[in-house]
Amino acid sequence: MSTASPAGSREPLSTASPAGPREPLGTASPRYGPAPLRGRLRVPSDKSLSHRVVLFAAMSEGVSRISGLLDSLDVRSSLDAVAALGATVEMQRDTTGPGDSTTGRGDPTTGPGDSTTGCSDPTTGPGDSTTGLCGTIRGFGPDGPRQRHPGTASPFFTLDCGNSGTTSRLLLGLLAGYDLTALLTGDASLSRRPMNRVTLPLLTMGARFEASHDTRTVCTTENFDSLPLVVYGSSSLKAIEYRSPVASAQVKSAVLLAGLHATGTTSVLEPSKSRDHTELLLPAFGVDVQVDGLRVSIRGGQRPTAPRDVLILPGDPSSAAFFLVGAALVPQSDVTICDMLLNPTRTGFLAVMQRMGADVCVEPRTAASLGAELVGDVTVRYRPVLKATRVAAAEVPSLIDELPILALLATGAEGTTVFESVGELRVKESDRLAAIEEGLRILGCEAYSEGDTLFVTGRGTAKAPGGTAAAHTTLLRTYGDHRLAMTWTMANHVLGRDHPLDDPACRAVSYPDFLDDLKTLLA
Ligand code: S3P
Repeated sequence: MSTASPAGSREPLSTASPAGPREPLGTASPRYGPAPLRGRLRVPSDKSLSHRVVLFAAMSEGVSRISGLLDSLDVRSSLDAVAALGATVEMQRDTTGPGDSTTGRGDPTTGPGDSTTGCSDPTTGPGDSTTGLCGTIRGFGPDGPRQRHPGTASPFFTLDCGNSGTTSRLLLGLLAGYDLTALLTGDASLSRRPMNRVTLPLLTMGARFEASHDTRTVCTTENFDSLPLVVYGSSSLKAIEYRSPVASAQVKSAVLLAGLHATGTTSVLEPSKSRDHTELLLPAFGVDVQVDGLRVSIRGGQRPTAPRDVLILPGDPSSAAFFLVGAALVPQSDVTICDMLLNPTRTGFLAVMQRMGADVCVEPRTAASLGAELVGDVTVRYRPVLKATRVAAAEVPSLIDELPILALLATGAEGTTVFESVGELRVKESDRLAAIEEGLRILGCEAYSEGDTLFVTGRGTAKAPGGTAAAHTTLLRTYGDHRLAMTWTMANHVLGRDHPLDDPACRAVSYPDFLDDLKTLLA
């Protein structure tokens, strides 16, 4: 990944601490303790939706118009991949911000979107500090990916998926249904992540794989579990009924995308509901998807077409969660995140915050584009008492990416918060379960795991017990994982500590301007 930064970079945030004044950010606080988070913010657009908009536009016939696409390293991996597959990508920075997803305003062909994005406040002015990408993608259409320089009988593509699990797993499914050969690579972190969960069902459908000879990981011909991988697609896939052992939107989406090209109807059954953006968004591209409880089905042979409406993306709840949890932990905080995606398969963290006693106010609206996705504004105001809770296994898919920041929230609650069945954390961008324990202990908080269960004991206040905390010079490790980098940045702030992070720049995987937006709320 190209986000490496000098090891041990230090980024002071707090304006004051119990131990005395700290490096100011030009935002001197009149009081001691961490500065409150206050104000309105439009966080960058949703990453899961951005990947899907790019991939679905690429496989469609016609030109899709897009406003407010997340501009981050992960989404750039998807954009670069579809360009390499022959889609025509014309995207540029939208300097005024995405359109309003509730009104459908903002046309990338006639000009930038509405800069207020439903976030304007007459007293404070527009809250939108965030830009994204706007423009068009002309799909390669039903005939499938095209090489820029054709010449060989069976097209061959090389696609670098960077750090992005969603790019790689959804692409494996998307490519499986075309007569082509593609080599998928990724960075060191992505090359460690399991791919069997996707390649096994795709093999059953008729795709073939080969472990690339470039690989340094052990990968036998029967084991297509890690990148680099070569996929041999086939235009004669057969439909399957797949019972997925994990609740994973990436697995579900990969199988459904392959099913679009299969003969017959393909169904995926999940043990519990994972995020449902694929099933909500495909109909906007003219593809019929049937949902029956935990079973999602797609009929093969449908031809996706570019939507007539502009696709306008709402803010990412996974990015918003850092500030909303920060506001719940720091006295006098009051933060509103505007125009945020409120899909219930993504907002489990808000329910957990409410259960713990946080003051959370949600104002939903219906988005005018992007299928049936809900959007709205979310406000969190500090409340002094938080109490521990139990996060049940069935809730985990709806808050899987928010577990690191929820673990930080638990350090400020009275009692021991139990996170059940969070084993999937071990196969994210890093082993997040081990990294959460390690980081929280360095910060002086109590955290341990038994099997797949994580326990975090809080003291009813967002202050780390100074006695057991490591020295401020001890490094907090990110393991190159963007969500850990943002969690530790917020932890340093709310706990009044100053630990250096080994790779803060990896935040750019999902949120390049995270630090600037945090500083805006602290100003
Ligand atoms: C994602 C699904 C989730 C999530 C990831 C994005 C998606 O992964 O953790 O950040 O966009 O489909 P799993 O499908 O592996 O649970």
